[in-house]
Amino acid sequence: MPACAIRPYNLSLSNEARASIKSQRPRCLWLTGLSGAGKSTLANALELRLNQFELHTFLLDGDNLRAGLCRDLGMGADCRRENIRRMAEVARLMVDAGLIVIVAAISPFRAEREAARRLFAKGDFIEVYVSTPFAVCAQRDPKGLYQAAREGRIKDFTGIDSPYEAPLSAECEIDTEALGLADACLRLTAFLLNN
Ligand code: ADX
Repeated sequence: MPACAIRPYNLSLSNEARASIKSQRPRCLWLTGLSGAGKSTLANALELRLNQFELHTFLLDGDNLRAGLCRDLGMGADCRRENIRRMAEVARLMVDAGLIVIVAAISPFRAEREAARRLFAKGDFIEVYVSTPFAVCAQRDPKGLYQAAREGRIKDFTGIDSPYEAPLSAECEIDTEALGLADACLRLTAFLLNN
């Protein structure tokens, strides 16, 4: 079907109206970093914390989405691009619906993260670089994936035979080796509530 055959329907209810009955400013916090950097752990703790503040949230985790919406995608560069595109579009819909959305995904490519950012109004996309060093992630290796990649049992592994492009100007950077979970969570909560 040619793209010109699609005409978006103008919804009567505004995003502001959806958000205002939740008494919150919807935004997307995008956590990027290596496998094992602590993105999911931090995102999970943060969501619990925001819930205690009675904020309306949702957590989009890379591994979880790959079990459903993105289960047709592998780990090659094109699949990762599509994975990030889908996560960004879903996050955008959820922000439009009035939620504070936390995304936790390796999202290794700068261009796709920038494309994700462009889906949101200025200030509504907060890139959080979970910058735990490669050596620490490889040593943690909670799923045995670094070991498997070193032994050649899995390929296209981020940091080994697939690149990770670190953010150049993330709004926030957290190294989970240097900062404990509670402090990291506090920092992100403060960032959200103060901005
Ligand atoms: S992304 O690169 O497309 O953003 P995503 O965050 O969704 O990745 O999924 C990464 C998860 O897939 C990791 O947490 C890890 O558990 C698993 N995984 C399986 N194979 C790989 C691989 N080759 N490289 C990185 N992660 C992998």
